[in-house]
Amino acid sequence: MDRRGHDTASCLRGIKRRQRFSPGAEMREAATEILFTKGAIERRVAELAAQISRDYKGKEPLVVGILNGAFIFMADLIRALAVPCRVDFVRLASYGTGSVSSGEIRIGKDLETPIAGHDVLIVEDIVDTGLTLSRLVEILQKRQPASLKVCAFLDKRERRRVPFTADYVGFSIPDRFVVGYGLDYNEKFRFLPDVCVLGTSSEGEGI
Ligand code: XMP
Ligand code: MG
Repeated sequence: MDRRGHDTASCLRGIKRRQRFSPGAEMREAATEILFTKGAIERRVAELAAQISRDYKGKEPLVVGILNGAFIFMADLIRALAVPCRVDFVRLASYGTGSVSSGEIRIGKDLETPIAGHDVLIVEDIVDTGLTLSRLVEILQKRQPASLKVCAFLDKRERRRVPFTADYVGFSIPDRFVVGYGLDYNEKFRFLPDVCVLGTSSEGEGI
């Protein structure tokens, strides 16, 4: 535990206490666990940053974070890079109803930087169906960047609905709903320093 920061274990105990008051608590309780510790994340981010630094040697990429989920991963990643970079952010909106994505993605908050002729690296928290990133890549390609790559912290390959392969992936994970390190469940748990599994499927049913 980071004495100055959040303690994932006690936060998860709090979640489990609340689950006792809802039906099916036992099953969900068993499914709440740490998947990647803060230390494991730090080591993997350093490896990714080394790989990206080699690939962008002599360049100054524009690193584009997808809000909100990518902000913690991106902050750690760019500070571990050995190349200079600039940063910008997009926020995406889906036209889907409820938790089911229709696949129609539009830009809610656009880039503030023109990207034509620049090396662009998109940073995302997680690739799930692939709909979000394949659409964003399509939109940004039309602006004619010199290069366009994607770095995703997590990848749930078995959930793809459209073909999409990220250029850099932190960890591949099974079809489980995860929170922490920027990832949320209804805007909760982004602050956790570890990545934790919530519930039994990727729909976040476990809480
Ligand atoms: P796609 O379009 O690839 O969507 O289906 C990726 C987005 O889905 C969200 N997502 C998650 N968020 N834990 C989360 O906190 C998860 O396990 C998870 N799976 C998908 C996320 O917003 C991502 O940007
Ligand atoms: Mg996201």
